[in-house]
Order: sequence, then structure tokens, then C-alpha cells
Amino acid sequence: MTDNPSNEKKPDPCAFVIFGATGDLAHRLVIPSLYNLAANGLLPDNFCVVGVARNGMPNDELRESLLKGLRQFATRKVDEAIAKRLLECLTCIEADPSDPASFDRMRAQIDKLEAARKTGGNRLFYLATPPNAFAPIARELGRTGLLVEENGAWRRLVVEKPFGTDLASARALNAELLKIAEEHQIYRIDHYLGKETVQNILVLRFANGMFEPIWNRNHIDHIQITVDEKIGVGRRGSFYDATGALRDMVPNHLFQLLSLVAMEPPSRFDAFAVRSEKADVLAAIQTQSEQEALENSVRGQYLGNRIGDTEIEDYRKTENVSPDSATETYAALKLTIDNWRWAGVPFYLRTGKALGVKRTEVAIKFKEAPFTMFSCTAVDRLSQNYLVVGVEPTEGITLQFNTKVPGPAVTIDGVEMKFRYKDYFKAEPSTGYETLIYDCMIGDNILFQRADSVEAGWQAVQPFLDAWKKAGAKGLETYQAGSEGPAGAEELLKRDGRSWRKLGPND
Ligand code: BG6
Repeated sequence: MTDNPSNEKKPDPCAFVIFGATGDLAHRLVIPSLYNLAANGLLPDNFCVVGVARNGMPNDELRESLLKGLRQFATRKVDEAIAKRLLECLTCIEADPSDPASFDRMRAQIDKLEAARKTGGNRLFYLATPPNAFAPIARELGRTGLLVEENGAWRRLVVEKPFGTDLASARALNAELLKIAEEHQIYRIDHYLGKETVQNILVLRFANGMFEPIWNRNHIDHIQITVDEKIGVGRRGSFYDATGALRDMVPNHLFQLLSLVAMEPPSRFDAFAVRSEKADVLAAIQTQSEQEALENSVRGQYLGNRIGDTEIEDYRKTENVSPDSATETYAALKLTIDNWRWAGVPFYLRTGKALGVKRTEVAIKFKEAPFTMFSCTAVDRLSQNYLVVGVEPTEGITLQFNTKVPGPAVTIDGVEMKFRYKDYFKAEPSTGYETLIYDCMIGDNILFQRADSVEAGWQAVQPFLDAWKKAGAKGLETYQAGSEGPAGAEELLKRDGRSWRKLGPND
């Protein structure tokens, strides 16, 4: 659509079909990402967007509404000419999975559009709908043959999170999708894999020779994975109250971080090898008994507070949240991985809403020096040796170590070596989704979740879900909005003689 300033190849001609085109995700992320790809010259010349809406809508109305969304959510200044060209190739089609005839009509309309736009029959179906629509839409796509790969054309299905709500439902959804498409056609999105810093974990580990020799139980004491958010539940009460922090964040986003940090080196940088290693390490997470799950977890719910200018109300007072809800807005877990690399190394995971800071990081804590020969000197404090992969607020990598403070006495203090993305690279701000959408179009599924990984993730959290469900409100702690979370989270580590990494003044 415009010149391609990078060396990335343009995807094949294709039709991009968005289910849920009138919804929030399409407005907030999908169209802004397509816009960024268009602005970078990374959309094919023969291209069309089909916006599927259950109740239909005139093309102009949908274009106008998506343009408004684009202006609001764009990550860069919108060039009206590029936006216009993008939205001109959009057609709105009415289809509702409860009305099979509408899918037959849609098939005929897509055939026509493909011929007019010369897209060669390549199609990408993006399910930007509520999750209860995934299986019904997939069934109709299967029945109408829209996903059958034939005459050299590819057909792909992109599925958003949440992928199931527990192990059984994830298995059922996988089984449903695999009836109508092959695994290589299914792209299960986790937006964390669109983040540069998350992708960089692989490069950090496997493009540098110096980390791998120490990346194991001999040198690593434990690993902390933190995804703290400042925002409360806001207007997502009804979704969130049925979901909770554990389901919303752990088997997907936190496990993406965990699997990249903990996986074995893949033999090749290709989707099969990388995804197999990720699935293997998730499957090696020790399954806990109900008692162990209770001992190795903490859950909390936030109480209202004023943070700066923002008033956050009690979680239980949120619209569409039950007044006696036992849903957790904070979860912390201690997990172990049963393999030679990680035996005996705890992985502590925590995530929550309405906390004091927004922070996403993986902190690798190395073992202390085996013998402290400085014990007789004036040691101010021995800092912990952490290697921190920062995703938010700082995108970068920090190494913390001890150094001598200048002066006649041997005084030791902790210092940091910092790499920040923004100091080295001038990347255009992005939604994070464009990489993923681009990869779907070029058929690279390395950054997408395979069925076995999704199921291994649910398998690992299922004992916690079951134990918490059984315990109800018993054991659910509270914490003030704007705080660091429930007191029990600190206890969880203290019990093992450890503590969560505090944010430093430069973080
Ligand atoms: C989503 C969750 O998947 O991820 C949200 O449903 C959460 O509850 C969001 O706020 C966090 O994403 P990020 O990129 O802001 O860390």
C-alpha cells in the first residue's frame, strides 16, 4: 500500500475476514495494527478486509466507526490517505452462526470479493468475538468449507484469548477446532508474544553464549515473574468476576514468560522446534495436590482507595460484580519444574489489578557467592544478583551486582548495568499486534500457541482453580488498591527465606 522501508517481505495476496468487526478489539487493536502494517508497506497489494457483523451494517457506517477507532487508538499520527485506502478495501458482511444460511451467503460473497480483488483464495479468519462464539463460528466455517485449503490457497484461523476457562474446556475447544482445520492453520494469539522484550528473551538466551552455562539449578536460586497492573477491573466486571486473575493472566501471559525463560534450547529456530520445547517445559510443571496448591498460592481481592486523582472502588462494588464475590484480583503461585535443569528452583509468579505500580518483569535471581570473604569488612549491604528482563515500565535488561564503593575502606554496594531499548533503537510505537497479524499472513506460527502448550498450561493451573473453588472465600485475602498486594504474597517467599524484588529508583 505504501513503500516498504524495511526488508520484510510482503505477505501473499489475501482476504482478511474479521468476525466481531463492530466490537472493541477490532476498533482498538486489529484495525490500528492493519493500519501500522499498511503504513510500513507490509500489506499485500491485492488485499481486502471483510468485516463480519451479526446484524450487518452499511459499509460506510462500519468504515466510519473503524476510522474513529483508529484515530482514537492509533499508536502513531494517522495519515488520512493511508487510512482511507485501507478502509476502502473493507466490506461489511452479515453472518450469524445461529443462522447457517447466512454463512452460505457469506461464502458466496467472499468468493466474489476474492475474484474482484484477485486475492488468490488465501483467507485469514480472525475471531475477534467473545469466546462463546469461537466454536459456533468455527463449526460454520467448517460446514461451508471456507477453511479447506485447496488449489494452492492457504486458509487460516486466528483465535483470541481466552482459550478455554479450564483444562476440560480448552481440550474441548481444541478438539472442536481440530475437526475443521489442521493445527498448522490455527493461530492461537497471546498478545504477550507480540511484545519485543518478550520475544527478546529467546535472543538473550540463545544468541549469546555466556548465559546458557549458568542458566540452571547450579547457578540460579529462583525466578520471579511479575505482571502487576495499576488499573482496576473497570467496566469488565461481568467478564472478570467469572474469570479472576489466575485464569485471566497465568496460563497464558505469565506462562509465555515462564516457558521462554525455562525452555530447553531448541535445535532450530522454527515453529516446530521452538513450540515443542515450550510445550515440554510447561508439561514439566509439577502437578500439585489440593493441599500443596493451597500452601503454594495466595489470592487477594482489592479494597477501594484513592490513588492520585483516581478513586478506585472496592472490587465487590464494581458494576456487574457480585457483592459477595470470592473472585481473586491478585494471585501469587509457587511452582516447580520437574526436569534436570530446574529441579529445586522455585518459580514465583504474581499478578494483580489495582496495585501501586504497573510492572511486568522476569527477575532471575542468581545464587550467592559460595563463600563471603568480605564478612569482616564494612559491608553496607550485599545486593542480590538479579538479571531482570523488563517488559514494563522499562523495556530492557538490567544486571544487578556488587561493587566496591570508592574509598580506603572496603565497602560494598549494589549497582546496575542497564540496557534500555529506547537508548539503542528508534522503533515506531506499535500495538504489538502487528507482528502477530503479519506473522499470520506470512504463515509463521512460531509466536502462536500450539494445542499441547495451551493444555499443558491449563493442566498446571487446574489444581489451584479446583482448590480455590472448593475453599470459596476462605483464604481469600484483601489488599488496599494502590498497595503491593496481599500480605500473604510476601509470606509465600519469606517462608523460603526469600523476598520479592523491589523496584529500584531507576526502574
Ligand atoms: C489481558 C487481560 O489479556 O491482558 C487484561 O485480559 C490485562 O485483564 C491485559 O489487563 C494486560 O496486558 P498488558 O499488555 O497491558 O500487560
